[in-house]
Amino acid sequence: MPQVSTPGSIVVLTGAGISKESGLDTFRDHDGLWARVRIEDVATPEGFHRDPGRVQHFYNARRRELSEGGIEPNPAHLALARLERDWPGEVLIVTQNIDDLHERAGTSNLIHMHGELLKIRCERCQRPMRWAADLEVSSLCPDCGRAGVLRPHVVWFGEVPLEMDRILTALDRCSLFVSIGTSGHVYPAAGFVSAVRNGGRARTLELNLEPSNGASLFHDVRTGPASELVPAFVDEVLTSVGAI
Ligand code: APR
Repeated sequence: MPQVSTPGSIVVLTGAGISKESGLDTFRDHDGLWARVRIEDVATPEGFHRDPGRVQHFYNARRRELSEGGIEPNPAHLALARLERDWPGEVLIVTQNIDDLHERAGTSNLIHMHGELLKIRCERCQRPMRWAADLEVSSLCPDCGRAGVLRPHVVWFGEVPLEMDRILTALDRCSLFVSIGTSGHVYPAAGFVSAVRNGGRARTLELNLEPSNGASLFHDVRTGPASELVPAFVDEVLTSVGAI
């Protein structure tokens, strides 16, 4: 039971596991994306500049799956939107995921620290723009009109995650940190629990199908599918402040 004395702020980190029951692949499970393609080929700036067509093809397939494959938010995404609505303090969702399932579930206070699959950006203009269609190497930037400069608005290995200042400030102030559906292998997200624990005040909770790489750093660890654990957690923490 995550004891939260006063309704302070809650920071929730999510990873690919929260979207698994919506039908999207994780990365490091036995059937995950990195079991089928190499990170170096499709998730690094070097891979993109070596073979942009291969990278565009990889993200085009994921973009089509998300926007045309009947992928919907699951009860875990919906429960977090309910938590944001009914919790008397601030709730910030920090997701490593590039899908739009948190938004579609109703979450608004959200940071996509690894970018967004349904956005692209021009390497010259740097402005992110919504893009649901396939991206080709020859696609022209609608702003500067150049070809060969558009890329997925996704943070690749070796690139800087987005909105880190805002994330670190929220972690420093929160009274509860919850990690959901992430293996705890990729930094800086894998280090968030230590940052919170170093602050000495907040409770920390992991909700995951199996204990993550950082499970021992959490006060509480619960294992099971997110679609079961997250609604139960939200009911519990809202009940603890009389919000239901
Ligand atoms: N419910 C809850 N957790 C689940 C479920 C489920 N139904 N299915 C899988 N999981 C857990 C797995 O046990 C695993 O711990 O989700 C986690 C997924 O781990 P990864 O595949 O490593 O995904 P993630 O932690 O989000 O990866 C972080 O790595 O490759 C980069 O940029 C990519 O954002 C990604 C980052």
